[in-house]
Amino acid sequence: MIITRAQDAYIVDEHNHKYIDTSMGSGSQIIGHGNILSQQIAKQINHGTIYSIPNHHTKIVSRLLKDYITPKLSNSYIFCSSGTEANMRAIRLARAYTQKEKIGRFHGGWHGGIDGFIESQGVPVSTEQNIQILPYNEDICFSMLTPELAAVIIEPIQGSNPQSGIGSFLKKLEKECKSKGILLITDEILTGFRLAKGGGCELFGLCPDIVTFGKVLGGGFPIGVVGAKEEIIRTPNVFYGGTFSANPLSMFAAKKILEDITINESENSLINYKKLNYLGEYFRKDLNTFFMDNNHSMRVYGCGSINRIIFSDKPVRNRKERDSLETKNQKGFYELLLKEGLFVNTNGIINLSMCHMKVMDKMIHKIKKIVNEIRI
Ligand SMILES: Cc1ncc(COP(=O)(O)O)c(C=O)c1O
Repeated sequence: MIITRAQDAYIVDEHNHKYIDTSMGSGSQIIGHGNILSQQIAKQINHGTIYSIPNHHTKIVSRLLKDYITPKLSNSYIFCSSGTEANMRAIRLARAYTQKEKIGRFHGGWHGGIDGFIESQGVPVSTEQNIQILPYNEDICFSMLTPELAAVIIEPIQGSNPQSGIGSFLKKLEKECKSKGILLITDEILTGFRLAKGGGCELFGLCPDIVTFGKVLGGGFPIGVVGAKEEIIRTPNVFYGGTFSANPLSMFAAKKILEDITINESENSLINYKKLNYLGEYFRKDLNTFFMDNNHSMRVYGCGSINRIIFSDKPVRNRKERDSLETKNQKGFYELLLKEGLFVNTNGIINLSMCHMKVMDKMIHKIKKIVNEIRI
């Protein structure tokens, strides 16, 4: 599918077909496509789009991040242009600070296209040997946290099986890491500025050693950010640069997003977490009631505005269990949904935006219609 334009909760393809979008720029466009903020940000183009020299917006972004989002971390942040880059820098920083090389990551997690984190041709075996894959949401993982690990990286909510009841697992992980001298990196690329102002860390009461942000913070422009505790970010001789890092367009966008959710926060904010989280609850409750009442072996999992349909009625603890239980042809289901005018991206993640309030009942109706047709 080739998209030619997008507005509010809709995308339009080259054949002029209009779809409700549930990807929303892989979770970036939380306000909606073509929103007021994007239009204001576009004005910055007239002042130059790239200087590769520090700009005045960055100072304000750092101050807002420190004051409102990560008060326990340093006021120095590393800026880059994507979530993948942010995680790569976070891992480099953790390795430099601890002088250890091995990184733990969780099965079913996604941290971007980083060598050693993906199953792909072209990744050196030596890179993979420096990564330890841990079982997600299973206590057995704690015995695998050995002091040879520099850091463990985790998304507060995994897009592959978004679970809101993950808080006690995350808190235990934080405690175990601390006691074993392993840094905790929370990857808030998807959850940051989405689940709450302070992302998953606010929701679950976490205080990581290093945190990464991206997506929503860029207001539709490319961004990645690393924050860390003071003593960690001060590690000398660690490289972070990049031509587009902290470019004025992305920094202006981040400033606008942060201002909207902090100093200008009100009932009328462009991003309203109460409304977004209510929307997620509504979506899950309505569909799960329908699935249960009609004996469909499907459930919607989610936390806040992050959702995923799981093709099983059995409880799913993690991605491994999901894969073993999901037997139905989901591709066929999503193809029919597309024909019905509802787009779900290949990763299956349904990211709701402020604009989905207007289309929520339509979305639910389309899903029910297809489920009834193919009787899962
Ligand atoms: C949790 C998480 N981490 C990292 C990334 C990678 O970010 P990007 O695609 O901006 O490189 C993503 C993107 O989907 C993500 O969801």
